[in-house]
Amino acid sequence: MRVLERLDELYAIGGGTRLGYSPEEDAAHELAAAWMREAGLEVASDGAGNLVGRRGEAKVWSGSHLDTVPNGGKFDGALGVVAAIEAADRLDDAPLAVVAFRAEESGPMGSRRLGELPEAFLELHIEQGPRLERLGEPLGIVTAIAGQARGSVTFEGRAAHAGTTPMDQRTDALVEAAEFVLRVRDAARGGARATVGALEIEPGATNVVPARVTASVDARAATAEQLEALIEAIGFEPAWRQDPVTMSGPPLEALRAVLPNAPELASGAGHDTMVLAAAGVPTAMLFVRSLNGGVSHSPQELSSAEDVGLGVEALTSALGALAAAVAVDG
Ligand code: GLV
Ligand code: MN
Ligand code: MN
Repeated sequence: MRVLERLDELYAIGGGTRLGYSPEEDAAHELAAAWMREAGLEVASDGAGNLVGRRGEAKVWSGSHLDTVPNGGKFDGALGVVAAIEAADRLDDAPLAVVAFRAEESGPMGSRRLGELPEAFLELHIEQGPRLERLGEPLGIVTAIAGQARGSVTFEGRAAHAGTTPMDQRTDALVEAAEFVLRVRDAARGGARATVGALEIEPGATNVVPARVTASVDARAATAEQLEALIEAIGFEPAWRQDPVTMSGPPLEALRAVLPNAPELASGAGHDTMVLAAAGVPTAMLFVRSLNGGVSHSPQELSSAEDVGLGVEALTSALGALAAAVAVDG
């Protein structure tokens, strides 16, 4: 299947590591631009480096991101871009745009700097969780996306000799950070999530008591109130925060019409869709079942060829209906 071959081609760039605004992400954008042209789209990049391929007066957009986390999987983001290109190709003359956002994993950065907003947006993405696999369902319709806050906390200690400094005379920044990591874990209750995923240790030498540690914080919750309580319980100042958003309007109706029996679920992961929804664009998301227990942000990430095929078909039908409906309304 062409979609899966293209995912392999993208994965070969950087072997699963295509960080936002890196040469690997650039190369993925170049490849996607060629596929967009082949599908009859007119391609341009905006000031933030987002890639947009349009056909006609495109008010309906679909797409996702081409960057990955370090050593990520083959499907996260890439599937949504490749599937949208495939749908645009099949919908020969429908006015549509396909977008590849920049640096979703680091912010998301590209979608927050999008110069122009579509009238409707539909993103296909792998589920990245175990629910569809447990339900035995290939596809799901997303109704909401959890809120998210990101930031960091720095702990100051004093560099000292690991062999000569008595244990009771140290100010060890990493020991403080370790206590913080446990506090972050314990702060996440009632379905909330909180993670320290990166630590920077200075000077970072085996025989030196750590002088300075910066811990990243990623906090998520289903409601704005829960997110606020979580931020307070952790005790950090978010550098970026996005309250939960709900899917709505013609994109959601189009998905429900195409998949009347599909389960509906909320997304714990963040997506570019979240940024567009928060900006007031009617948005919806289609999830394709993840296998392997739903593991994601890992090379073990997997969906079956059959499920991907069903996802592309449903996306194509929904985008076709949406493009026709928005053209009539507009
Ligand atoms: C995006 O992958 C996220 O961190 O939710
Ligand atoms: Mn991701
Ligand atoms: Mn993603």
